[in-house]
Amino acid sequence: MAAKKIMVSGVQPTHKLTLGNYLGAIKNWVKLQNEYECYFFSVDLHAITSRQDPKELGENTLFALATYLAAGIDLEHATIFVQSHVRQHAELAWVLNCFCYMGELGRMTQFKDKSSRVGETIPVGLFTYPALMASDILLYQTELVPVGADQKQHLELTRDIAIRMNNLYGPLFKVPEPYIPKVGARIMDLQSPENKMSKSVSTEMGAVFLSDSAKEIEKKFKRAVTDSGTEISYSDEKAGIKNLIDIQSAITGKTAEEIVASYQGKLYGHLKVDTANIVIQELKPLQERTQQFLSDKGELQRILRLGADKAAAKAEATLKNVYRAIGFVPY
Ligand code: TYM
Repeated sequence: MAAKKIMVSGVQPTHKLTLGNYLGAIKNWVKLQNEYECYFFSVDLHAITSRQDPKELGENTLFALATYLAAGIDLEHATIFVQSHVRQHAELAWVLNCFCYMGELGRMTQFKDKSSRVGETIPVGLFTYPALMASDILLYQTELVPVGADQKQHLELTRDIAIRMNNLYGPLFKVPEPYIPKVGARIMDLQSPENKMSKSVSTEMGAVFLSDSAKEIEKKFKRAVTDSGTEISYSDEKAGIKNLIDIQSAITGKTAEEIVASYQGKLYGHLKVDTANIVIQELKPLQERTQQFLSDKGELQRILRLGADKAAAKAEATLKNVYRAIGFVPY
C-alpha cells in the first residue's frame, strides 16, 4: 500500500481557543484525518512571541491538545504533541531564518498589523515567526496544511522557502498546499464584524471561546453587532449578519442560501438566538469531552510523550538531510 500523504497543523495556546479556531481549522482536521498521516501540535514556541503568563501558557497548551482529542482527532491517524517537546522545530527554524529575506518577512500582513499596534518594542520573534511556522510544516514532508484564511500568506512563504532551498540543494522538502475551507475560513468578531475573531485582539464580548458557558455564548450572540436594517440577507454590506449565517453554515452544513430562505419574514433577533443555540449544541459535547481528557493528566502526558517521540523521529530525518546539504559536519 502506498504511504499516506502527510497533513500538519497547529494552534497557538495563547488563550483558550476560539470558535474561529474550531470552525476554521480543527473541525477540518477531523474531517480530513482519515486520508492522511497527521501531525497536530500546540504551538507554544509561537505563543511566546507575545508575553505569556507561565501558568496560563501551560494550562492553555494542554487545553488545546485536549480539545483536539475531544473534537475527534483519532490517534490511529494522528500524532499529537507539544511543539517545544520536539526540538527539531526550533533547530530547523534557525536554518530557515538564514534563508528568508527581511523584505519578505516584513510584507507579512500579520506582522504589519501587530507592529503597527506595538511599535518599536515589538519582539523580534514576531518578525521571524513565519520561519518557525515553515519549520513546523517542512520538517514532516507535509503535503496539506488545513488552516483558516489568515494563514494563507504564511503558507505561501513556506512554499517559497521550500522551493528556494530545493533549488539550491536538491529535493529537501515537499512543497505543501494549504487547505482553506469554503465556509468558516474567516469567522468575524461579534462586536466588530469587519475584523476576524481573534484570541489576542478581540474583546471578551467579540470572541466566543471554547471554554465559554452556554450563558456566556447566548449573551455574546444576543449582543452581536449587526446593522440598522431588518432584512436577513447574505452580503458584504451586512457583515454582522453574514458572519452569523457563516457560523450556522459551518456547523450545520447548510448553504447560506438555505439559511437565508429559512429566515424569510423573521427578525435579526431570531437569527442571533438560533445561532447561539446551534453553537451551544455544537460545543456542549466538545466541552464535556475536553474536561474528561483534562481530568486525566497522566494519560494526556502519556499521549503527548508518545506523540513527541514519534514526531521527533520523523522530523530528525529531514533535519539531518538539511544539515548534511548545507555542509554541517555530521555528529
Ligand atoms: P492561530 O493560533 O492564530 O489559529 C489557529 C488556526 O485557527 C485559524 N483561525 C481562524 N479561522 C477562521 N476564523 C477565524 N477567526 C480564525 N482565527 C484563527 C487559523 O487560520 C489557524 O488555522 N501560525 C498559526 C499556528 C501555526 C501553524 C503552524 C498552523 C504554527 N505553526 C503550522 C499550521 C501549520 C497561528 O497563529 O494560528
